[in-house]
Amino acid sequence: MMLHALAAGVDFERYFRWRRERDGDPFVVRFPGFGGAVFTGTSAGAGEIFRAPVELLTPPLPNPIEPLVGAASLILARDERHRRGRALLTPAFHRSRIAHYANVVRDSTHDELNGFGAGPAWLSGTRVDARIAARAITLRVILEVLFGTGSGSRRVEYTAAVVRFLNAFSGPLMLLPALRHSAFGYAPWDRFLVARDRLDELIDAEIAARRTAGADARDNDVLSMLLATRYADGSAIDDADLRDQLRTLLVAGHETTATSLVWALYRLHRHPETLARLRTELADAGPDTDPLELSRLPYLDAVCQETLRLHPPVPIVLRRLTGPFALRGVAMDAGDTMGVAVPLLHSDPRVWPDAARFRPERFLDRRYGPAEFAPYGGGHRRCVGSTLADFELRIVLATLLMRTELALTRHYSRGRIPLSVPHNIATGPRAGITFNVVSHQGHSGDSYHNAM
Ligand code: HEM
Repeated sequence: MMLHALAAGVDFERYFRWRRERDGDPFVVRFPGFGGAVFTGTSAGAGEIFRAPVELLTPPLPNPIEPLVGAASLILARDERHRRGRALLTPAFHRSRIAHYANVVRDSTHDELNGFGAGPAWLSGTRVDARIAARAITLRVILEVLFGTGSGSRRVEYTAAVVRFLNAFSGPLMLLPALRHSAFGYAPWDRFLVARDRLDELIDAEIAARRTAGADARDNDVLSMLLATRYADGSAIDDADLRDQLRTLLVAGHETTATSLVWALYRLHRHPETLARLRTELADAGPDTDPLELSRLPYLDAVCQETLRLHPPVPIVLRRLTGPFALRGVAMDAGDTMGVAVPLLHSDPRVWPDAARFRPERFLDRRYGPAEFAPYGGGHRRCVGSTLADFELRIVLATLLMRTELALTRHYSRGRIPLSVPHNIATGPRAGITFNVVSHQGHSGDSYHNAM
């Protein structure tokens, strides 16, 4: 049992492949401390899970990320609470609002390139750690989208608090609930609680200030929208719930996207012909293309989808049953857990010929159904931030490629593809992937920093 847990922890995807080869589909995986789950990696099985009657499904508890997101989080809510939560959050991330965020995404990328973000400017001859840069960009975007933090000290405070909070939730704390105990203020759990309190203080102060100033004091950020929204019965969200939802969006809404960006850059630079085709598309569009138009470029779209297919940042999607259900003929009962093993689904040879190959063209050749391609899960719990994430991925990637020419450092330019390991809510490459900046075009675009 422990050997299986270890194998799954070391190389999750390989372990899943091996289990399916050995046991067929579906197959059972046990997680120490969290029980077992019946997994499927076929579109028939994923379809059954996504279309199962909603009243039969709850999120599995205990959930390893509960301390991060909080008990009132949408991710952990069920039944009426979940319905209410989604009704509240979904409009804030609806396609019609995405245009409001276009400049935030582009400016955050420009600032990172110009050295006003987490790292130094991307000048020719310098080396950049793609993970650090991608996290800085996506954290800044989500802070701006949620709170409208602007460029001042508030953003610096938030950034520091979120980074400390996420770093304090180490892998062992996530996977071994037994470690979640205080020890005179010195245990990892104590450090985590201090970091969480600090972030909560900032969020609470923000909520209080907005309530005092009136809900429409700022227009475009999600917090203003949530404060102004009413549930169907006319009531408003209370502060404790609001805090957990905001913390959820912070956690769910940036490392996932950052990881995908890193993988996209990595894959493109391992496949020069793909990179060249994308560069041609971007050059034809021109540097002044409106971000919304940019986000609709077909090859850019295909590259981002192919990246999410090969490297889904959330590789398992789980549901717990409240009553009997059969998954691909395997009978299950109330309390049992079932899940989609997304890397298996995304490599099913019947849907994805030559599945191990990075080949964005496959997304130009045909369309895939929601049970064949499911990086954002599916059914009534499908990711609420998927439109923002898709938009962000395309704009950041396009902006980076239009402004720079990069080359993978020697260690990454050949050899094995780095393993994906769990980190907070997402999985991602074990270490930061590094690039050399071959050339960099200056830019005088208006960024928050420059505008100050
Ligand atoms: C590439 C980026 C992202 C990926 C791959 C991703 C993936 C996922 C997946 C697989 C789920 C579970 C779906 C299910 O159970 O069926 C999920 C849920 C969720 N995601 Fe995302 N996500 C991303 C970005 C975002 C962003 C940007 C936000 C918010 C701004 C967000 C907020 C959420 C929330 C709140 C849930 C819970 C939904 C519910 O339980 O009803 N995600 N995401």
